[in-house]
Amino acid sequence: MLFKQQALLRQKLFVLGSLAIGSLLYLVARVGSLDRLQPLCPIDGRFGPRSQDEIPLRALQFKRGLLHEFRKGNATKEQIRLHNLVQQLPKAIIIGVRKGGTRALLEMLNLHPAVVKASQEIHFFDNDENYAKGIEWYRKKMPFSYPHQITIEKSPAYFITEEVPERIYKMNSSIKLLIIVREPTTRAISDYTQVLEGKERKNKTYYKFEKLAIDPNTCEVNTKYKAVRTSIYTKHLERWLKYFPIEQFHIVDGDRLIAEPLPELQLVEKFLNLPPRISQYNLYFNATRGFYCLRFNIVFNKCLAGSKGRIHPEVDTSVITKLRKFFHPFNQKFYQITGRTFNWP
Ligand code: A3P
Repeated sequence: MLFKQQALLRQKLFVLGSLAIGSLLYLVARVGSLDRLQPLCPIDGRFGPRSQDEIPLRALQFKRGLLHEFRKGNATKEQIRLHNLVQQLPKAIIIGVRKGGTRALLEMLNLHPAVVKASQEIHFFDNDENYAKGIEWYRKKMPFSYPHQITIEKSPAYFITEEVPERIYKMNSSIKLLIIVREPTTRAISDYTQVLEGKERKNKTYYKFEKLAIDPNTCEVNTKYKAVRTSIYTKHLERWLKYFPIEQFHIVDGDRLIAEPLPELQLVEKFLNLPPRISQYNLYFNATRGFYCLRFNIVFNKCLAGSKGRIHPEVDTSVITKLRKFFHPFNQKFYQITGRTFNWP
């Protein structure tokens, strides 16, 4: 009798234990994917009729699974057909600015279930050899996506290359253009740091930043130095404005993206007419890296590579002051054209 009762109790405990473990596993999975499983359109219908903005649930589920595999080239033709996957030309391009935070911006936007990034810089519009291969070549470089999703690519050289605005205009005159900028002197030093690291890797010597940024004959800012020229944002933007109206550009504050990424990303979501899906859950500060990192779900998170967030060399304060004074009028013009003011000195 006692033995029978014990067996019954063991059986009950086993059932209860299984139920508890099952519920726990369900909760863990649910929390991890909460972000992905929110209703796709807000109740108040702010983003238009559901049919237009709807992103198929499978797109959300497969964002890091199936699609990821497909991008690595593991998809069979049958899988592509079955899942209705396509390689779409980009609806938005991050055209620059080099060292503005272009990689961070692309990776963070890729957190959005409706966005699929082209992982590599494609350099289609700035490289004559690539451009000569034609638009189909470019499209084939794009990742697989669902028709409801948008593809975004980034090639920072586009911003400063003469021929690019006209070439992009010929592909799609209503494309959305993203430009991420940082305080121009800091950006120039970041640019220098990247080149310096490349030289050091090859055991080559290089000049000090001060020597490159200041003309030794005139003691004025050296406008022939590429890192300086790239930071004259207004000059480059003016070339783009010959082809696209200012409404087609969105300026991202790269300094704010470092310190407080979410509000900057929310502005981009709005500009791209995407329902707001990137949340604080997707971004966490990593004290070791000193930067925000990305959380896709409970299992998958990542920080940017070590080449992003380098330690800059110390630069003579008089050179910094000179550069800031030099950039000041260009910055004022940039604020005026873009309608976005930054607290740059
Ligand atoms: P530094 O290396 O000078 O710090 P780009 O991707 O255009 O080359 O820009 C690189 C810059 O992105 C880095 O410049 C870094 O400051 C900035 N950045 C912005 N957000 C970042 C993040 N979450 N992780 C790493 N770097 C980030």
